[in-house]
Amino acid sequence: MRPTATSTAAGAVGRKPALGAATERLEGRDKVTGTARYATEQPHTAPDCAYAWPVPATVAAGRVTAVDASAALALPGTLAVLTPDNAPRVGESDDPILRVLQDHEVPHRGWFVALAVADTLENARAAAAAVTVSYEVRPHDAVLREDHPDAYVPETANGHPGRRERGDAREAFAAAPVRVETSYTIPPLHNHPMEPHASYARWDGDHLTVYDSSQGAHPVRTALAGLFGLEPGRITVVSEHVGGGFGSKGTPRPHVVLAAMAARHTGRPVKLALPRGQMAHVVGYRSPTLHRLRLGAERDGTLTSVEHEMTAQTSRIKEFVEHGAVAARVMYAVPHSLTTHRAVRLDVPSPSWMRAPGEAPSMYALESAMDELATELGMDPIELRLRNEPATEPDSGLPFSSRHLAECLREGARRFGWHQRDPRPGVRREGDVLTGTGVAAATYPVMCDPASASATARPDGTFLVRIDATDIGTGARTVLAQIAADALGVPLDSVAIEIGSTRLPYGPLAGGSAGTASWGWAVHEACTALTRRLADHHGPLPGEGLTAESDTTEAAEATPPFARHAFGASFAEVRVDTVSGEVRVRRMLGVYAAGRILNARTARSQFIGGMTMGLGMALTEHSTSDAAHGGFAERDLASYHVPVNADVPEIDAHWVDEVDTHLNPMGSKGIGEIGIVGTPAAIGNAVHHAIGVRLRELPLTPDKVL
Ligand code: MOS
Repeated sequence: MRPTATSTAAGAVGRKPALGAATERLEGRDKVTGTARYATEQPHTAPDCAYAWPVPATVAAGRVTAVDASAALALPGTLAVLTPDNAPRVGESDDPILRVLQDHEVPHRGWFVALAVADTLENARAAAAAVTVSYEVRPHDAVLREDHPDAYVPETANGHPGRRERGDAREAFAAAPVRVETSYTIPPLHNHPMEPHASYARWDGDHLTVYDSSQGAHPVRTALAGLFGLEPGRITVVSEHVGGGFGSKGTPRPHVVLAAMAARHTGRPVKLALPRGQMAHVVGYRSPTLHRLRLGAERDGTLTSVEHEMTAQTSRIKEFVEHGAVAARVMYAVPHSLTTHRAVRLDVPSPSWMRAPGEAPSMYALESAMDELATELGMDPIELRLRNEPATEPDSGLPFSSRHLAECLREGARRFGWHQRDPRPGVRREGDVLTGTGVAAATYPVMCDPASASATARPDGTFLVRIDATDIGTGARTVLAQIAADALGVPLDSVAIEIGSTRLPYGPLAGGSAGTASWGWAVHEACTALTRRLADHHGPLPGEGLTAESDTTEAAEATPPFARHAFGASFAEVRVDTVSGEVRVRRMLGVYAAGRILNARTARSQFIGGMTMGLGMALTEHSTSDAAHGGFAERDLASYHVPVNADVPEIDAHWVDEVDTHLNPMGSKGIGEIGIVGTPAAIGNAVHHAIGVRLRELPLTPDKVL
């Protein structure tokens, strides 16, 4: 176990291994020079390309009684107005949000009720504005309350048991010498990727080609095949460059269905880029969550009971329950534990995946409560966590494939200068400013899905690796080329890589921090197989080269039973202005144990990107459910405050070199999500340390601080 800042290992025999090196993104130059093409920027856009602009519902619940398109159709350039009455019928889908314009129901404000198609973007927007929709309005309920009479405990929350009990947590809490009973509130949060959800759709006979901004081309193709009744082979989906997703592009979204419908209806290629103002209602969001926790402990800090009950909202048309009480099942040794998810169906857009779904809200609540317990005990919060390190995963009893949380906490404390900390809250004043520091742990599960790849040795001595992986800005393309170069034993610059299309061997979506592990395993296998073929091959290569393919279905499913998670420790120092109520972060540090780090540069970017998003969750980001009109009040980046550079002064991420042989051939865990997980609690705990008051509702905006 050797902590490193940048782990560039020099090869013993002259050539440096590609894996681990701080390689720059292969497409970096294309991106900064504007030659990397995103979904609606295809250079081969047909001259007769049309543009589509959706019409969102303006009521919170009800039925469309009439769509009057006459004024829109009379405008110059209008080609069509699709409505629930004339839109092409589509087949079944296991995702109800994709069956758009199929009936007259309005399940929530912002649901698409019509689509204008015109010869230019401007004309499409004008046509959409000229469509008149009449509604029969139903009473609605769009605000989550904990005491909602319809609250229920679902069987599962995103696949996790809805309720889980070990021992008798209530009795153990009642008997505990030290008790903390507390609650936290997290508002709705929106992913808001820089590039909106966008598609360019084209029919050539009965072959559909779609350029879509998505986290996975194959899942989009599967959804379109079902909806349009086509063999998957008749659909090509390309997602070559994607300007962020953060989970909101992890499932197909209605824009891609509308684009394909409009292209079929008009017989022309169609571009549809969702306007930012419509996105908040149709591409998912993190449900607001209400948390109640009760922690019982001995006076020496040994936990005796943990209870975590979370309440989230879901929509009327689709059950999605944020698994925001799962962290206690993984984190600390405790004999009595009760974790419960509750959900309420409301007249709201369907919540969905957002970076570290489950873990981010769950760990904000648990790690804030642990800080409250440390205060109650008069104990250092790092010491409290170290005292409760489990030997096996508390919930399952399984051994951990590796767990180096303690090392992250210790190394973070050393780098951050934690040991000079005065534990007293509310005493460090510099004029009007109070300062404080805080710490929190982080965790995120390690997942891996089956994938396929091909590797070709070309007669000119170079190699081509092909897989439908998606690079949503993470550096996946670069890391996969590094994995290939190492497996082939060749320099990185002799490897070409193709990703982001259903024309390539199957890869799963970029999600669950599982992309690189899943695709990388398949790339490693294909390259290893090719190396064997080359060893057996004598004489010059044939003109088309020599190719090997892989399929990790069996290997990925045959993994032995271990509890697999990444861990980390987050540290923050804040300044709280006692006059304005403003909280500013002065510095942040994250130290992670995430298996082998495959690219020091892109990994650091992933970590600090996640930490920055955690800063937003702590201090600036929130959406407001509109009780009167449904939907969300914030529908642009002026009112939804994503942190900017000025909000992030000193930020750093490090990792411990973790060797875990129970994962994949690279020994890597996922790194895309864990950065967000510990940050909000670390900042919240630092604010308590600064001002001596515990604020329990995010974000910590000035109105709450004063
Ligand atoms: Mo991520 S929220 O698993 O795309």
